[in-house]
Amino acid sequence: MKDRDEPPLALLEAAREAAGHAYAPYSGFAVGAAVETSDGRVFVGANMENASYGLAVCAEVGALQAATTSGALDQVHRIAIVGPKPPTPCGRCRQLLAETAALSGRDIEVWFADLDFNVVERRTISALLPDAFELP
Ligand code: THU
Repeated sequence: MKDRDEPPLALLEAAREAAGHAYAPYSGFAVGAAVETSDGRVFVGANMENASYGLAVCAEVGALQAATTSGALDQVHRIAIVGPKPPTPCGRCRQLLAETAALSGRDIEVWFADLDFNVVERRTISALLPDAFELP
């Protein structure tokens, strides 16, 4: 197995731990996400729902926001997402990840897994969102 195919276990663990802090009383679907920068920093997020259902914030948004707050968005090179069923990022999160990849000038690895890590899958953001919108 090539190195790029080895699951990033520490990053997946960080995402799973973050899922434990999710606020998801409406869906009951707690998700955690962890982004890693090229210099090894990790930023986590968890989904945060609201009685006004459409305001739900995904775990990925929280993790990307945390990286942004530390000035590290342009160094994000991979993300792990963990939930009761392996969560593939929604369309909005794919768009956010695509722009993050454009910032750094390289593709982002997207790993997603269930809480037991029985299923661990790897994609790239370019595969998850081909032809992403970018401003000219
Ligand atoms: N959710 C995430 O946080 N990330 C994903 O990748 C998939 C879905 C959240 C949104 C909502 O709070 C709950 O999971 C059910 O869709």
